[in-house]
Amino acid sequence: MEFRRITGLPPYVFAQINGLKAEARAAGRDVVDFGFGNPDLPSPDVAVAKLAEAAYNPKNHRYSASRGIPNLRLAMANRYKLLFDVDIDPETEVVTTIGAKEGLTHLMWVLLGPGDSAIVPSPSYPIHLAGPGFAGANVITVPIADPGASDDNPGDAFFEGLVRAYEDAAVKPRVIICSFPHNPTSACVDFAFMEKLVGFALEHDIIVCHDFAYADLGFDGYRPPSILQVPRAKECCVELYTLTKSFSMAGWRVGFLVGNAEIVAALTKLKSYLDYGTFQPVQIAAIVAMNEALDYPGQLLAIYQARRDLLIDGLARIGWDVKAPKGSMFIWAPIPEPYLEMGSLEFARFLIEEADVATSPGVGFGEGGDAHVRFALIENELRTQQAIRNMRKALTKLG
Ligand SMILES: Cc1ncc(COP(=O)(O)O)c(C=O)c1O
Repeated sequence: MEFRRITGLPPYVFAQINGLKAEARAAGRDVVDFGFGNPDLPSPDVAVAKLAEAAYNPKNHRYSASRGIPNLRLAMANRYKLLFDVDIDPETEVVTTIGAKEGLTHLMWVLLGPGDSAIVPSPSYPIHLAGPGFAGANVITVPIADPGASDDNPGDAFFEGLVRAYEDAAVKPRVIICSFPHNPTSACVDFAFMEKLVGFALEHDIIVCHDFAYADLGFDGYRPPSILQVPRAKECCVELYTLTKSFSMAGWRVGFLVGNAEIVAALTKLKSYLDYGTFQPVQIAAIVAMNEALDYPGQLLAIYQARRDLLIDGLARIGWDVKAPKGSMFIWAPIPEPYLEMGSLEFARFLIEEADVATSPGVGFGEGGDAHVRFALIENELRTQQAIRNMRKALTKLG
């Protein structure tokens, strides 16, 4: 059968790896799983307690507001003030989404249609590359370099590529999707990059959608900038913020689109047709997480940073040199030279079969990803050490 917009999509990368993992586990092997960016740490206690309490109130069992209840939008606005000193009007400049992924996908429906195009970095989180296509639009990819490969600011090369892509495009793109700290490469940018991007978008009448999934995950004192910190950004930009990584609330599906009021209103309208909002107890618990678990993102960050250091040091000890990322929850590891010709899918398969270590093959994130595998920092320190021991035995060609 032929399916509109689905036939022709490559299999979702995480599904491929899950299949391999499941086979290994069915054979009784203990796979250390760095494959999927699915946080392992428990959500804040206050949120869990509030969810349970709110779930007992039958008033919360009815349909909720698809754009999010007022206090949830207010909590989000307060968070932007606290983190970025950005003023967000909770009435007009924020809409709740069912996670950033749903928000981004439906945002593309609002912004794009057949004949339109969007600029997207490659490699990228899969929905960034697929989302414009679901709206019938084309994707123009711009390479994003491995930040470990040179000392340059990865934003500079990406920005140059973006300008070239714009100039070369027969149909000028309406949208730029980007996301820093970046998944999978962990590339990070500074405020000057955001300023350049906003300036470019204003000049060429382009909308920038910045997926800020790793807003709270900057290491060693690095603070990822919000695009909305740039003056006039609200004229052409929207940003997605999510509780998935910042509060380890992946399964709860709470995200937000913030920024340009017209775009927020457009997504709000679409969503009023599509959904009735997240289950209200979840919204109430999300308010409590943002208002009361203020220390939680910092505690989480310390855990991810310790895991990052352990993995980077361990890889270096076995002869696999990878530069420590400044942000995100990923290590984008270049496949070591003696194994490079395998390509990322074969190499990821090799790591599962020979070392009981699951990673994501870089090719699953698009063009330019095939020379890397991605480790997600979702295993604790003991298991990370176990993985290093396993890889030391399996990777016999390393020095
Ligand atoms: C760049 C990026 N955006 C969005 C998401 C998913 O966010 P959510 O759980 O809020 O849909 C992820 C998760 O890995 C991601 O890496």
